[in-house]
Amino acid sequence: MVRNQFETVRELFARNVIPSYARFDLALARGAGCEVWDVSGRRYLDLGGGIAVCALGYSNREITQALIEQSERLVHVSNLYYNEPQGRLAERIVKHLAPGKVFFCNSGAEANEGLYKLARKFGHDEGRFEILTAANSFHGRTLAGISATGQEKVKKGFEPLVQGFRHIPYNDLTAAREALSPATVAILIEGVQGEGGITPATADYLMGLRRLCDEKKLLLLIDAVQCGHFRTGRFQSFQRILEGVPGAEGFRPDGVSMAKSLGGGFPIGAFWVCDKHADLLGPGTHGTTFGGTPLGCAVALKIFEVIERDNLAANAREVGDWIKRSLQRMVDTYPTVLKSVRGLGFLIGLEVCEREKIPAFSTIDKGSSIQFVNKLHEAGVLTIPSGSQVVRLLPALNLSRPQAEEGLSSIENVVKKLVS
Ligand SMILES: Cc1ncc(COP(=O)(O)O)c(C=O)c1O
Repeated sequence: MVRNQFETVRELFARNVIPSYARFDLALARGAGCEVWDVSGRRYLDLGGGIAVCALGYSNREITQALIEQSERLVHVSNLYYNEPQGRLAERIVKHLAPGKVFFCNSGAEANEGLYKLARKFGHDEGRFEILTAANSFHGRTLAGISATGQEKVKKGFEPLVQGFRHIPYNDLTAAREALSPATVAILIEGVQGEGGITPATADYLMGLRRLCDEKKLLLLIDAVQCGHFRTGRFQSFQRILEGVPGAEGFRPDGVSMAKSLGGGFPIGAFWVCDKHADLLGPGTHGTTFGGTPLGCAVALKIFEVIERDNLAANAREVGDWIKRSLQRMVDTYPTVLKSVRGLGFLIGLEVCEREKIPAFSTIDKGSSIQFVNKLHEAGVLTIPSGSQVVRLLPALNLSRPQAEEGLSSIENVVKKLVS
């Protein structure tokens, strides 16, 4: 009976849904807080947060209330008109980031598209158009997004790509300087590489890129789609990375893209542009039908309000850093299964050993990250694979310490069984 419910959903997909995702054998039916249940009624602790999306977990009552109240007032208006929630949300982002202005859209890839257009406009009259992005980066699945992404696997089969993107090694300032050409107009990096396996930018890299961009008249753009929105313990990951770094107080990028946790599951994206360049995209240069609807903005405003009221940035920092320390102890205790742990706050990457080195994994032709995530599913915990060896923990910002303890104990039980 239980199997049949899952099979019914899987068959619906097999017949009707384009098979562009390699999905796990799991059909989720409902959620509450950091817990989610599958169609058979089995409960999971969710440490994946819908890939850094569910900022307040599932079925949050205050989000539901905001949705109901705003939908009874006004769901959508065209961007031909003003609407107050959009203006108030932009103000909130500016307050947390720095003076500038915000454009609203629907996804992370679309937010990055806005940054590419901003850069093109900035350099247009001088014939500059080239954007440098990092190896191992991820910027979304649109045609420009895969062109910007520094991973071959997303580009394959879709050539010719959008021109004007080149990749440089991440956290390598010399390589960035050497890669510049007369056509270069911007450098775009993630504050912490997410899909690439949770690699934070170093403070020296951020500061050095800022100096380089100032010197060469380039825009410094940050993709904060996954690493932003308080996940690292500060609104933006660069704010956390640069904490206490001498001379970093005035650090500002020129543009920042965001999405994911901004809407907590309601699809909304945005990009912020610093004051100096905030009016580059003038009337008629950019737009999107659903960007900044009153409904989406009311939800995002509520999320900001709850995060601030409940000090969830501090929670992400404290509980997240505790998780990281605990995982580091596991790495030290079980070196034949776990290799390393990296990240900040609730943006954690646990590197599992190569599948060939783990007997239980070695005979199956799937990366150790996917096999580990499957074992965690059996143990009742959801996490997110990244590449062939990294397992990501990107939980809701309100994950409690006892929930984190439950998750870690399940992880340790899985690891123990993999020790050869
Ligand atoms: C850093 C980064 N940029 C952009 C994107 C694309 O966002 P979306 O899937 O909302 O288009 C993602 C998605 O994972 C991401 O992690």
